[in-house]
Amino acid sequence: MRRAVCPGSFDPVTNGHIDIISRASLLFDEVVVAVGINKAKSSGRLFTAQERIAMLEKVCADFPNVSVAGFEGLLTTFCEERGIHTIVKGLRAVSDFDYELQMAQMNSSLVDVETVFIPCSPEYSFLASSMVKEVATYGGDVSRLVPPDVLTLLTARLAERAAEQD
Ligand code: PNS
Repeated sequence: MRRAVCPGSFDPVTNGHIDIISRASLLFDEVVVAVGINKAKSSGRLFTAQERIAMLEKVCADFPNVSVAGFEGLLTTFCEERGIHTIVKGLRAVSDFDYELQMAQMNSSLVDVETVFIPCSPEYSFLASSMVKEVATYGGDVSRLVPPDVLTLLTARLAERAAEQD
């Protein structure tokens, strides 16, 4: 059984994430999308961990071999607990590589885990959750960058935030 974990913050999940998850689902028998829950960073998040997990469960429902879970602490602990030895990461550009390489080497120094990089599809090479949030905050059209359900939740959450600031 070839199993892999696709970790991330997913605040929110974008079409770029789905590109990587769907391609990982073709390469592995089982893929666990692992949503990082970092309590120290929770105030900076637009969506709670439960909301991010629920969004991913919805958008991954079409992939029968993909499941979603939250994790706190080290990704390597999550991998160990689940007996997973492969981490899948998407690479958008060379600029991602330095940090991803460092993380991959740190993770493999901690436990028996290999990181596999999947180059993102070119149409998503500029895509980041942080940019989606910024563009949407100022009224830009992000409808081609996130799934429709995520767009609805994003629009609603940004409207709530804007109302709170009035
Ligand atoms: O989507 P992101 O923000 O790039 O995801 C980063 C994430 C959650 C994959 C990464 O921060 C992570 O693995 N966090 C868990 C803590 C951990 O294991 N840190 C050591 C990595 S060297």
